[in-house]
Amino acid sequence: MSKVLEMAFVQGFIRMANDGWLQGWHERNGGNLSYRIKDEEMDAIRSILSYEGAWHPIGTSVPELGQEFFMVTGSGKYFRNVILDPEDSTGIIELDQRGENYRICWGLVNGGKPTSELPSHLMNHAVKKKASGGKHRVIYHAHTTNVIALTFVLPLRDEVFTRELWEMATECPVVFPDGIGVVEWMVPGGREIAVATSELMKKYDVAIWAHHGMFASGEDFDLTFGLMHTVEKSAEILVKTLSMRPDKLQTITPDNFRDLAGEFQVDLPERFLYEDKG
Ligand code: 13P
Ligand code: ZN
Repeated sequence: MSKVLEMAFVQGFIRMANDGWLQGWHERNGGNLSYRIKDEEMDAIRSILSYEGAWHPIGTSVPELGQEFFMVTGSGKYFRNVILDPEDSTGIIELDQRGENYRICWGLVNGGKPTSELPSHLMNHAVKKKASGGKHRVIYHAHTTNVIALTFVLPLRDEVFTRELWEMATECPVVFPDGIGVVEWMVPGGREIAVATSELMKKYDVAIWAHHGMFASGEDFDLTFGLMHTVEKSAEILVKTLSMRPDKLQTITPDNFRDLAGEFQVDLPERFLYEDKG
């Protein structure tokens, strides 16, 4: 096995991609994953990467990430194949100093290129790096079935999605206390949707793309996968509940949430604790 494949972060990346596939969130080439590599991890592999590749435009500008390295899934690649042939399905890219171009330094060996959602991944990384003091390193996009279904029946408002998903499982407000943002339907793959998503990532760790999927950000693979999993499971409970009857006989109330916030020492913004739910 190559030294790159032996690295713990590469193994963690591969495992997360496969876990997402097993959840059913990655039909065909759906979804993509990126990881901002640590300096000490780069020190272990820097000398064995290739720096001969051509520079290509990212499609946006992320000067905050200039000269950083990322592991990314490839465009058109299937998550179910990552574990079988990571050097074909994934790659390591370097950004230039201005954060406007990338080059492939490892992987994507059969003429592959990074995910078409690279602008969204990198703009989210830029925002979350700043907001977390450098701690956030993983950006994950998945086609989560139940969240997508809800974007056809709930108003596309941050307050509504956050509150409804918080109500479906007691742990939710503790796992995503800042809430969830919603991007209305937009053409994927470009700078415009990247700008809209990264704007929401200034406030939240999760952004829903209406009729498409979700983006999640986190410090490591466990936290980011766990966040995606928690939100999607909550959406599954809501879909089941709505399938049984349109209203709830009982639920977690705003005062219940306030009690929870005190006990678990999380701040739950009052704008999500409205009384009139309609
Ligand atoms: P890529 O195959 O280019 O990563 O695109 C998949 C996807 O989910 C687009 O939103
Ligand atoms: Zn997608």
